[in-house]
Amino acid sequence: MTASAPIGVFDSGIGGLSVWNELVREVRGESVIYVADSANAPYGTKSRRFITGRSRAISKFLIDLGCKIIVVACNTATGAAITALRNEFDVPFIGVEPAVKPAALASLTGHIGVLATAQTFKGEHFKRSIKLYSHSVEVHERAGTGLVELIESGKTDCPETRALLIKCLAPMVEQGIDQLVLGCTHYPFLIPIIREILPAGITVIDPAPAVARQTNKVLELNGGLNTGTETHFYKFYSTGDPDSLSRMLKKLTGNDYQAYKAEGL
Ligand code: DGL
Repeated sequence: MTASAPIGVFDSGIGGLSVWNELVREVRGESVIYVADSANAPYGTKSRRFITGRSRAISKFLIDLGCKIIVVACNTATGAAITALRNEFDVPFIGVEPAVKPAALASLTGHIGVLATAQTFKGEHFKRSIKLYSHSVEVHERAGTGLVELIESGKTDCPETRALLIKCLAPMVEQGIDQLVLGCTHYPFLIPIIREILPAGITVIDPAPAVARQTNKVLELNGGLNTGTETHFYKFYSTGDPDSLSRMLKKLTGNDYQAYKAEGL
């Protein structure tokens, strides 16, 4: 592993920026290349075959740009494709999965909620973790269908988003959850409204900090942490409209970054 090489990160769109935000805090000095597959978002309602095809193409794009490790900053793509990606490519892959384990261990009511895409609930990884913890807690699943589209169009705080969230969360609150797992990397951008909707005492779990720590650990184990003095860079590509990604970058990372078209992807 070449320590000065960049880290690759991808998602169906801008959701993976919730992971990117944590990652650049955790691994300072690392270059990061981000791909938003916005032309194909959302993934959550697409077939496993389609998502695997896109994940393969994006991983190849990132590896061709020299990436030393790839963070699949998308629960849906992790569930559908990470095994295929690990079999096909030589670089390490870090995935994101709904954090059922910490939620189950922390729950006092014995009820936890998971908000994710419909496709994530079908993934083998998710089914396995449910099997492991369903003896100790009841897991209440809810597909947040429609939320990703709203977030992609910049509607992170509007009446429509709030109404859809209330529809998703109210049944879980009724069922007595005390932990809410955000099983889609887009959803952390809704945390301010989620906290307003949920009664006090329900913990909201965003897996991004754990993913950032795990990436750091895998880089360290492989001697891949960039300890050199070269200046690092952040680069952003979109398969959709790069100007729209640049605007969202300002809003979601607080920085002025110029995004580029992912040519050929
Ligand atoms: N951000 C993604 C996830 O974590 C993808 C959501 C979607 O495209 O439907 O699942």
